[in-house]
Amino acid sequence: MYEEAVELAKRRGFFWPSFSIYGGFAGFYDYGPLGVLLKDNIVRVWKEEYLNDGAIFLDSPNVTPEPVFRASGHLARFSDLAAECEHCKNKFKLETVLEFNKIKYIPATLQDAEELAGQSNLKCPVCGSIIKKVYDFNLMYRVTGDYYLRPETAQGIFVNFKLLANYNRGKLPMIVGQQGKGFRNEISPRQSLIRLREFNQCETEVFLDPENLEFRELYDFKKIIMRPNTGEELYISVKEAYEKGIISSQAFAYFVLKTQIILEKIGISNERLRFRQHDPDERAHYAADSWDAEGLIDNEWFEIVGIANRTDFDLKNHEGSSGEQMRININGRDVMPYVIEPSYGIDRILLTLISQTMDKRDGKNLLRLPYYMAPYHVAVFPLMKKDSLKERAEELYSGLKNIDKYVLYDEAGTIGKRYARQDEIGTPYCITVDYQTLEDNTVTLRNRDTADQERIKIDDLLKGDYIKSLIENKLKL
Ligand code: ATP
Ligand code: GLY
Repeated sequence: MYEEAVELAKRRGFFWPSFSIYGGFAGFYDYGPLGVLLKDNIVRVWKEEYLNDGAIFLDSPNVTPEPVFRASGHLARFSDLAAECEHCKNKFKLETVLEFNKIKYIPATLQDAEELAGQSNLKCPVCGSIIKKVYDFNLMYRVTGDYYLRPETAQGIFVNFKLLANYNRGKLPMIVGQQGKGFRNEISPRQSLIRLREFNQCETEVFLDPENLEFRELYDFKKIIMRPNTGEELYISVKEAYEKGIISSQAFAYFVLKTQIILEKIGISNERLRFRQHDPDERAHYAADSWDAEGLIDNEWFEIVGIANRTDFDLKNHEGSSGEQMRININGRDVMPYVIEPSYGIDRILLTLISQTMDKRDGKNLLRLPYYMAPYHVAVFPLMKKDSLKERAEELYSGLKNIDKYVLYDEAGTIGKRYARQDEIGTPYCITVDYQTLEDNTVTLRNRDTADQERIKIDDLLKGDYIKSLIENKLKL
């Protein structure tokens, strides 16, 4: 459903390419009115789930001075191997060229890549000429001489570790979350929100005592596809994966499980989600182990969350470079914490959510978002614009607004068209004011998923928690 999802998103105002009046620029997308609300809901689920585990939050600058990235290793090592066709001048990620040439081996270093390019006739995916030029391409945007746009939100947390630990009264584990933008000068942006140059991350850094890599108790949740880097594919619960030694530490397993739970709550299907462990040469420069949560769109798997064991790599490097002590005292021991980092890509999650929940009924689009995730909860319509139906519907709309802000009013077009518009943007309930309303003060309430309608008293609708109960699935129509 990728193509249909992107078409719907653009037409109905979830997201669209930025700067289109100037021809569009690869790798940049705007969120439209519905996308802003859906994105907020994804972030809210993430934030509330982490609040449950006692997380605290930070908001640090996008523009970051060079010494931070010198210490973190990003200046030297945050790069992709790239290839350029000297004939058509197109630039590619080396991986793309290798895939096009059906070469499975992925070189780990520039030297290996140069050897490969020297020995094989790598054809350009665009013009078919032989590619000779391979190089290392640093993905960070340099904004002025001494500053970079951050490629991850994480460093803001690491450089503030001492202040955060003081705020947290020196207790471990400590979870710090940050929601914000990341910037990467991707060589080949692609597939709308999948590979952007400016994107939205929700990251948490979980600081743990290295002598106690445990967090809250693991529990048995649904089985899921797990692909450890040994090459096998398993269908087991995360708890089982830990017990079988497939996931290295209890705390790491807990945050894999947490990711499964958060993504399911957002509305990503458990059957179209898997966890894949990185091969050692695939890991980021700071990671001792990494697992990706990958979502399935059509027949392709995409990374949507990366979970990394960053050990004390970042704190140690910042301590060495800044001279600031990055340790805390735990029962008389001087401890430099170990870090587990679940890093959520909000744009990829949103795209996966729309693609996976898009459905058809009688040839018309339907977005089966979980009710609480929908941009709007309820839409109110007058059956006609005449005979005081419009006034009664407007009155009901204002009354509902006092209870729930995510209410729409629509009087344009036939009632069938109005239902179809709301189904397409995932609104769970539509309320229609009709002639019977004028007699007995009832309206029809229509459910998005079943298209069933029921008559409800307006007084009941406006009572306390009625709409809230519908949206939270505590009350079924
Ligand atoms: P990929 O291998 O697909 O390039 P990555 O391994 O570089 O991804 P991470 O560095 O682990 O990704 O970033 C954490 C999360 O941030 C990813 O799971 C993804 O959801 C999101 N993300 C990273 N780069 C981008 C991008 N260019 N556009 C959109 N989202 C991104
Ligand atoms: N913080 C993980 C990443 O963005 O790569």
